Parts: sequence; C-alpha cells; structure tokens
Amino acid sequence: MKKSLRIALVYNSHAPGEASPEDRASFQDLMEMLRDIVRTLRRLGHRPTLVPLGHDLLAFQRKLGRMKPDVVFNQYEDTMPGATYEMRIAALVRMMGYPVTGSPALALGLTKSKYSCACLLAGAGISIPPDTRLLETVGAVERHSWNFPVIVRPSSEDGGVGLDRKSRAATKTALKKKVSELLKLEGQPVLVQRFLPGREFNVAILGGAKPVVLPLAEVDFSALPAHIPPIMSYAAKWVETSQEYKATTVICPADVAPTLAAAIRDLALKAYNAVGAWGYCRVDMRTDADDNPFILEVNCNPCIERGIGLARCAERAGIEYPELIQKILKAAFELHRIDGADLGGGHPPRPNGVRLEA
Ligand SMILES: Nc1ncnc2c1ncn2[C@@H]1O[C@H](COP(=O)(O)OP(=O)(O)O)[C@@H](O)[C@H]1O
Ligand SMILES: [Mg+2]
Repeated sequence: MKKSLRIALVYNSHAPGEASPEDRASFQDLMEMLRDIVRTLRRLGHRPTLVPLGHDLLAFQRKLGRMKPDVVFNQYEDTMPGATYEMRIAALVRMMGYPVTGSPALALGLTKSKYSCACLLAGAGISIPPDTRLLETVGAVERHSWNFPVIVRPSSEDGGVGLDRKSRAATKTALKKKVSELLKLEGQPVLVQRFLPGREFNVAILGGAKPVVLPLAEVDFSALPAHIPPIMSYAAKWVETSQEYKATTVICPADVAPTLAAAIRDLALKAYNAVGAWGYCRVDMRTDADDNPFILEVNCNPCIERGIGLARCAERAGIEYPELIQKILKAAFELHRIDGADLGGGHPPRPNGVRLEA
C-alpha cells in the first residue's frame, strides 16, 4: 500500500426524508462523520476527496474514471427502503478495477435481507433465533404456531427502523396488528422471531484475511422501566430526547465469563466468514435464558463514527481512530490482491491455512 493514497470517499448525497433536530440519524450527522474521516485521512498523509452519489450513476462513474483513485472508501448507504444500492456500488467500483473498503457486493446484498442472511447462517449451522419466519401478509400469521413473546421487524431495514415499544408482541392479536402496520408503513415483508430474553452484545470484527474480534460491547437495558421492552428500537438508537435513548447504554468492554465470551467470538467469526464479510463488521447477538448466543444480524460496513460502535471497541483494544481507518484501507488492498480475478465482488476466498479465530 502506497504511503499517500488518492482516496475517493463515496457517500449517499440524498437524505431519505427530513429528520427532526433531536434525531441523530440525520444527514447533518452523516456529513459530520464524513468530514471527520476526511480530516483523519489527511492527517494520515492521504489525499481524500468526497464523492457524493445521488441518483446519477453514470455521472458518478465518469467522475471516478477521471479521478482514478487508488482506493474507494465506501460510505454509501441505502437511503431507499428495501433498495440494494449498497451492493451495486461495491460491485460497480470493483468492476471499474479499484480496491474498495469494507465488504464485497455479495456480502452487502446478502446481509441487507435479514431473512436471507438468517437462512444462510442456519444452513451453515450457525445459531439464529428460533421460529425465524418471513411474513408477507397478515393472514400468514395463522399458518404458523408461535411461542410468545416474539419480535416483529421489517425484513430489510437497519438502524432500528420500524422498531418501537410494540415490536415485542406477546399475543397473536398484537402480532397481527404489528405485522399489518409494518407491511403498510415499510412496504416490505416482515421478519418475526422468538424474542430472546437474555443479554445483547455487539461484536466488532476488524481485518481482512486475518480478522480479529475486538473487545465485546454489551447493551445495558437495566435502567429501562418495565413498560418499555429491552430492545434497540429507533428511539433507543437515535432520538436523544426519548426515554429509550436516555436509559439504554453500552458497556465496553463487557463483563462476560470466559466461556460465554469464547462462544460469542466463535459465533461472530463464523457468521462473518459465512456471509463473506471483509475489512470491518459488527455482529449483533442476543442470548436466550440459558446463556446461549444467537445471531440477530450481521452488519457489513457498519457505522464507523468516532467514539461509538465499532470505533469504541477498537479504542478499547488500543486501536485509535486513525489506526482504525488505516487498517480498513489496508484490508481493501488485501482483498483486491486476493480476489483480483473476481470482478463481481464475490465471496472473498480465505487464503489457505487461515484459521478464523481471534
Ligand atoms: N430475536 C430477538 N430477540 C430479542 N430482541 C431482538 C431480537 N431480534 C432483534 N431484537 C432487538 O431488536 C434490535 C434491532 O434488531 P436488528 O436485527 O439488530 O436490527 P437493526 O438493523 O435495526 O439494528 C436488536 O438490537 C435487539 O435489541
Ligand atoms: Mg442491529
């Protein structure tokens, strides 16, 4: 990897809708994070340029062609419900021959659909919550038997979208109501799973051919009043003024017994490998009443805002923000070398002899 790289920092230039001022998922917050990444890249001696992508893919392609970056730093996120644009950008950039940070197209596409991802993981023998079902109509509720409570969420969203105090359903009537509401509001099939009552962990993974699990983070719901279910809802994640936001905190490093910690790390790496993730990733997990961990979702290219999420886990491992960014770049070149022949951005092959262990 060259010392001073010409970097195209690609991001989505159109906001999905207006967010209220107390909403931390706003376009302004995204721009602030991007500017921080740009400053960090400059301090590392690189030459970054922000490259927005709206709806004009051809103009974007021409711009990249003129720029001829050494690497594309991918911060493009879907802004249309159910769209698969994240996957397309990674594929397009790879087809143009540039290394790109984060996961390849296939992993981005697979993990975008929580149900497809869960089926893939289950097929690979990786634990997912029991009774994982995809419902396309309210009537479909009747075709299954349920063990309540269950959790009901959109099948292809992230960031807590579609999750609120009614997302944990304890009766068939409540389940039907929520399914009907989500089908109308989100316009996509609904994912229903057994509600796991245990602890919740965010497991950050960093690296290319030799991924390592960073110190575990646990979501602490203990300050929530009994009438608010312990889930990372939209409010808990983003709305600073909400009770959910104020009473939900993250403990990192988490206090976890060695056996459970080992099981969590092992499961996270298996999932990372199964979906073909690369570079950096965050796996969300939850335990059942017997302390067995299950995968809720695999977040390829998760948020890398300084001080929170993956960046906080990295800090706890002694990896400061600039080093984290540099490692993400390095992994992009590693993948580029390994799968140079695979222009579609397929499942990254692991070099022989690599053991997926922390
Ligand atoms: N099976 C489950 N049991 C209990 N809680 C769950 C389950 N699935 C999801 N959740 C809760 O919902 C939150 C959001 O689910 P997740 O799949 O991570 O979606 P998002 O992409 O919105 O983060 C999780 O962080 C967790 O709190
Ligand atoms: Mg999540």
